[in-house]
Amino acid sequence: MTLDNNNLAVSPTLSPEEEVLFTSLRANDWEEFFGQEQIKQSLRIAIKAAKQRSESMDHTLLYGPPGLGKTTLSHIIAKELGVNIKITSGTALTKAGDLAAILTNLEPGDILFVDEIHRLPKNVEETLYPAMEDFALDIVIGKGPSARTIRLDLPKFTLVGATTRFGLLAGPFRDRFGLIHRLQYYPPETLATIMLKAAKKLSIKVTPEAAEEISKRSRGTPRVALKLLKRVRDYVQVDGRDLIEPTDVDRALEMFAIDRMGLSDSDRRFLVQIIEKHHGGPVGLSTIAATLNEDALTIEEVLEPYLLQTGLIQRTPQGRVITKAGYEHVGLPYPESKLKRK
Ligand SMILES: Nc1ncnc2c1ncn2[C@@H]1O[C@H](COP(=O)(O)OP(=O)(O)OP(=O)(O)O)[C@@H](O)[C@H]1O
Ligand SMILES: [Mg+2]
Repeated sequence: MTLDNNNLAVSPTLSPEEEVLFTSLRANDWEEFFGQEQIKQSLRIAIKAAKQRSESMDHTLLYGPPGLGKTTLSHIIAKELGVNIKITSGTALTKAGDLAAILTNLEPGDILFVDEIHRLPKNVEETLYPAMEDFALDIVIGKGPSARTIRLDLPKFTLVGATTRFGLLAGPFRDRFGLIHRLQYYPPETLATIMLKAAKKLSIKVTPEAAEEISKRSRGTPRVALKLLKRVRDYVQVDGRDLIEPTDVDRALEMFAIDRMGLSDSDRRFLVQIIEKHHGGPVGLSTIAATLNEDALTIEEVLEPYLLQTGLIQRTPQGRVITKAGYEHVGLPYPESKLKRK
């Protein structure tokens, strides 16, 4: 796919080497987890209450764009509760039997973290319903007329689900989560704080101004901020220096074609192609996917959220539309006919 190659620096997907780096940089407790104050406060209360009652915490759903800290939060929750965390994902759990095996092996109070929970197959999801509600599994034994269902008791666990696609979860599934939190994009100041903390861990020297410059181009996303920090560090290191200054940020990120708003080639191509081939929209997602030769899900989950957030595109019932700000960002004139229509 084209996106990962020319969008390397801002893509939320990680190479194996980066995976290791990011695990080592992961915020380990509340003191290292910056921003998202409301979520933190609500989780802290839920954790404290569960501990006081010696019960499992309510099932929790964390949703929001990639790289905002869902996995990190789940680890912090487990640590604060003093319980084990078992990690799996909606794509790994293909059979109800796999889920049953995991659930029966949990200790009371443990956390089952299911990443990409919107990808769970329907039958696995439905097995989860009684597990979440009554801490029980209904297992069918035998076939045909002699088949019967037996109920298996489970330890009282906490399901923590993470998803980038809240809208794809069925209503009855959502209803079974006691806590539902949407992670927000981070303001640049918070990203700068996150980066300065990470820089310390990596023994990188970076001026506060340079950290601020990087955060402005980080799409409100800590993972992107940390990736860009790493890119700029490489640049400075090759240049034989050890301090990152604002001019380094400009030069290094220019090399990776990341502009002042943090848009990459892929983002700009998205804007330009819709303007040139579809008069700036409205145009449907599948048509865009065909035009860009890109997979629709990647466009929807990776490219669009930030373009929507920054107001460069809009989603309408007729399809995606490039806004005036979007035209201006790629230096193309906004058609007068569109101005009149407003
Ligand atoms: N609030 C924060 N404070 C400090 N570091 C953070 C924060 N949020 C995220 N990070 C760091 O950013 C990186 C990405 O976070 P994480 O893997 O938790 O994101 P995610 O939401 O699970 O992403 P995905 O949807 O792709 O799974 C990690 O290295 C993490 O430590
Ligand atoms: Mg994650």
